[in-house]
Amino acid sequence: MTEPFTITVDGRQVAVTPGQTIGAALHAAGIRSWRSTRFCGRPRGLFCGIGVCFDCLVSVNGRPAERACLREAAPGDEVTTS
Ligand code: FES
Repeated sequence: MTEPFTITVDGRQVAVTPGQTIGAALHAAGIRSWRSTRFCGRPRGLFCGIGVCFDCLVSVNGRPAERACLREAAPGDEVTTS
């Protein structure tokens, strides 16, 4: 697939270039944080970018705790954040 497509993130359409991870697509859309820490409410998004820190967790198509930096976006993905 070579044509750009979109995914839905919390009801918002986000453009994706084929091959991008969900984290990369969010970053390209100007979304820098999409969850917060449990106790202090500090913003989190991409940090390590290589699957180590787990700061980038999202739910994809109802499956929780997907690392956005590793999960390649697919057409029609429904992403929810917390
Ligand atoms: S940014 Fe560190 S695991 Fe995804």
